[in-house]
Amino acid sequence: MNKKEQYKQLLPQIESLIKEEDNVVGILANVAAALHETFSDTFFWVGFYLKKDAQQLILGPFQGSVACYRIPYGKGVCGKSWEEGKTLIVPNVDEFPGHIACSSLSKSEIVVPMFDSEGELWAVLDVDSKALSSFDTIDKEGLEAITSVVMNELNPHLSNLFDKK
Ligand code: SME
Repeated sequence: MNKKEQYKQLLPQIESLIKEEDNVVGILANVAAALHETFSDTFFWVGFYLKKDAQQLILGPFQGSVACYRIPYGKGVCGKSWEEGKTLIVPNVDEFPGHIACSSLSKSEIVVPMFDSEGELWAVLDVDSKALSSFDTIDKEGLEAITSVVMNELNPHLSNLFDKK
């Protein structure tokens, strides 16, 4: 099966995996696991950074090796994707100014911004590969479709995520 077909097959699977669930952390964890399993050859690290406040993203559910806890607005690929409000594909992370290296094994990366129902950035999906130039428009379209399905499910449940004591 080629990559496009894999995304096409995965989308309804993710839709039913997260349907009628209101546990935000659990949903994000399962989506990261489903992506990691489906694309195990390429997705060395896959997970979410969540907007904590106007200045920073914080580490959310992921699959892969240990990662940085905080990413400032406009910094790294994740912070840049937040600033620009669009998906960024980085074929060679060493050539991306300000790239934040959580692992020296990561060579290429794609980051997809995720917006709430008011169009505000709520999180980003970050995927890293150990190979150069792993991501293209098929990944962009596939991952944007997945994040859109995820945000539709999460939107009613976003409040209070960080307020629990
Ligand atoms: N490389 C990212 C940081 C997160 S890690 O890759 C998991 C960046 O530059 O934003």
